[in-house]
Amino acid sequence: MKQILLLHGPNLNLLGRRDTNHYGKLTIKIIEQLTDELARAYGIMLLSFQSNHEGVLIDKIQSESDHSVGIIINPGALTHYSYALHDALLDTKLPVVEVHLSDIHNREPWRQKSVIAPACISQISGKKEQGYLLAVSHLIDHLNSEEEQCK
Ligand code: DQA
Repeated sequence: MKQILLLHGPNLNLLGRRDTNHYGKLTIKIIEQLTDELARAYGIMLLSFQSNHEGVLIDKIQSESDHSVGIIINPGALTHYSYALHDALLDTKLPVVEVHLSDIHNREPWRQKSVIAPACISQISGKKEQGYLLAVSHLIDHLNSEEEQCK
């Protein structure tokens, strides 16, 4: 079965308790369940992983990229400054979709810049948990169109 890697960065383990106006009310577990259900409906397995540590996320990207067809990542605050995460994602050569629960483009100026974005095929921001479901559909459309082009 093909695998999509779903990664969550710092503080996202506290979803449900963080500012619900920005991040919604769902816990990370429920978001993972909903995302997993959709991926399974497409015949794809989801491997979910959260860490508060940049290096641990990079280790996971490096160890799982060979077994994955794509990556969905909400890097949390690492979005705004982690060039190391950018490079790790780029090095996988996999399609990556960046997701933010909140609308980062309508928040503090420092949140509006993503240094991860150039390593991604798209960014979904401000759609709360729906963003993860849109990311699965988008990634699968992208993979299907790549397959079409190879025929
Ligand atoms: C976030 C936005 C980031 O700016 C913030 O640091 C987060 C969550 C989001 O999902 O909206 O932790 O990535």
